[in-house]
Amino acid sequence: MIIDTERAATEATLNAVAQSSDARHVELLSSLVRHLHAFIRETRLSETELEFAFDFLNRIGQATNDSHNEAALFSDALGVSTLVCLLNNGAGGATETASALLGPFWRMNAPELENGASLLRSPTPGMPLLMRGLVRDLAGNPVQGARVDIWHASPIGLYENQDAGQADMNLRGVFTTGADGRFHFESVRPAGYPVPTDGPTGDMLRKQERQPFRPAHLHFLVFREDFKTLITQVFPGDDPHLEDDPVFGVTPSLIGSYRIENEGTDSARCVLDYDFVMQPGEARLPVPPIK
Ligand code: BEZ
Ligand code: FE
Repeated sequence: MIIDTERAATEATLNAVAQSSDARHVELLSSLVRHLHAFIRETRLSETELEFAFDFLNRIGQATNDSHNEAALFSDALGVSTLVCLLNNGAGGATETASALLGPFWRMNAPELENGASLLRSPTPGMPLLMRGLVRDLAGNPVQGARVDIWHASPIGLYENQDAGQADMNLRGVFTTGADGRFHFESVRPAGYPVPTDGPTGDMLRKQERQPFRPAHLHFLVFREDFKTLITQVFPGDDPHLEDDPVFGVTPSLIGSYRIENEGTDSARCVLDYDFVMQPGEARLPVPPIK
């Protein structure tokens, strides 16, 4: 097709995209082209701004490596990951959901641990944490044999892959629920932390004058055949960044009760009890954002 007007640029692209025999590809790419072209018309995007966008996308790729996923971070900071999560959980977005975005730091093959074991694989100073979880189904029955994969940042706010001072797989582990649907583990209380700001996503956050700190949290990925994999995070209710999480991960049901026992003494520790409810569905593991 000869492109004789700006409208023809959209029409020709839509026709080209529609040549695929993959119906879902055509649906996704046609919609993307329509929205992208509408965005360009609405904003009257300039040539300089298009060049900026090329450079920005290229920098996302260049900033990505085995231990950092800038594309996931950019998606998270634009609310895209949370929107996809909410639309695919909680009755298709109709109700609140107990799911939260995966984030860029889940690693596959964390150590399999016995119930009650510690997540510490190298000395990690901080307030001791005891977490007790119960996995149940929609009818309230315990779910036995669910694999509960946990990962979290250290008390100085760094994941082990960001911190040469932590052993490989520190603060990561996989537990299996017993017949009562329960699991528990020991660790140290995680701190909130800034999302990585040394790449293009950080430039965007600064441009928008957004603060980079996430509220403290534990991550969970709960997996069992015949249930929809539950990916979530649990936050303490007193964290100062629940309202301005830069990646929009906090929903009401994910605010847990992190109680401090024996506060002010040498035996002070933090205790979290939390119930996870699994829905019937497809058990699938996400593609790990990092290795
Ligand atoms: C995280 O919670 O691990 C996370 C999520 C989104 C961006 C950065 C970190
Ligand atoms: Fe995190």
